[in-house]
Amino acid sequence: MDTKRWSVDKNVDKLINCPQITQAANLLIQNETVAFPTETVYGLGANAKSDDAVAKIFTAKGRPSDNPLIIHIADKAQIHDLVQAFPQQAEKLAEAFWPGPLTLILEAKQDVLSPFATAGLSTVGIRIPDHPVALALLAKTGLPIAAPSANCSGMPSPTTAAHVWEDLEGSIAGIVDGGATGIGVESTVLDCTEEIPVILRPGGITKEQIEEVVGEVSVDPALKNVDHTPKSPGMKYRHYAPNAPLILVEGSPAQIQELILEKQQDGLAVGILTTAENVHFYQADTIVSCGERENMETVAADLYTALRRFNETEVDVIFSEVFPQEGVGEAIMNRLVKAAGYRIVSF
Ligand code: TXA
Ligand code: MG
Repeated sequence: MDTKRWSVDKNVDKLINCPQITQAANLLIQNETVAFPTETVYGLGANAKSDDAVAKIFTAKGRPSDNPLIIHIADKAQIHDLVQAFPQQAEKLAEAFWPGPLTLILEAKQDVLSPFATAGLSTVGIRIPDHPVALALLAKTGLPIAAPSANCSGMPSPTTAAHVWEDLEGSIAGIVDGGATGIGVESTVLDCTEEIPVILRPGGITKEQIEEVVGEVSVDPALKNVDHTPKSPGMKYRHYAPNAPLILVEGSPAQIQELILEKQQDGLAVGILTTAENVHFYQADTIVSCGERENMETVAADLYTALRRFNETEVDVIFSEVFPQEGVGEAIMNRLVKAAGYRIVSF
């Protein structure tokens, strides 16, 4: 398949009338797949009402069919077509955080969305993304658009159109290039079908921010304990991973440098994932610095690009520093622990 690529300046007025947006929207209306930027990561969109369209997402990504997709809408009014009820708590959260990186899981209306999009579940995850290009495209189609991250299943999520191209060129109908995404980690997935909402995936909106709006919030125990089955099907797969094995290290730069030397003495090429503050401590075959610890938002923004960098060099093993699990650090550590397949060394 010939993948079309459009460049769009996200700051221009009346994006909805741009020819690029019109052409991309037409492909979506014709049940083709189009990747587009959101404020978190690039999504791979398709008409959520069409089995045929949604099936193309799963094929292009190589995604397991039991992993449901997030439905993206441009306007809160669209939600009533998709859900059985919009509980007051969920409405308050939508009011506070939409458009934005919060996905609300609600009871789905029957026979509206393709069962492929919801993976046959009775619930559906919905969000309004906070990105002018995404909003223009969604509004132009007038459709609910199913959109997982636009990477091959298992790879780090794409934060630039080039990442999408690397993974999916030839397998999808088009890519709208609106520049690098801002936040860099995916939306927070919040189950609102329980009286006390449950975080199923940490993301761009923190637990503390949600608690400020609705009070008590719980966290799916599977996020902290690998013996539990996660309620969000996507959380059970190895994910976000570079090609070489990644090992997280809870230790000082000096201790991590010791590990690097040991591996090098075994004849291995070693990578290290660090941040601006610590980068000068290391001697390794590939050194990737990812944001600044002092400002964890910058680490989130760079994380997936950093993980992908290791695939451009010859490394046999990668060590990574760990981060405090608070605020957006929760999402960062969740992704790193998964990318590492739960391999963590502690000093
Ligand atoms: O920021 C984001 O959320 C990005 C952008 C493109 O919007 N999308 C994204 O989609 O990360 P994806 O497919 O990579 O991740 C969706 C997550 C998966 O872990 C999936 O299992 C979960 O949301 N999910 C979707 N619907 C669900 C449902 N009904 N119940 C539980 N989990 C659900
Ligand atoms: Mg994903």
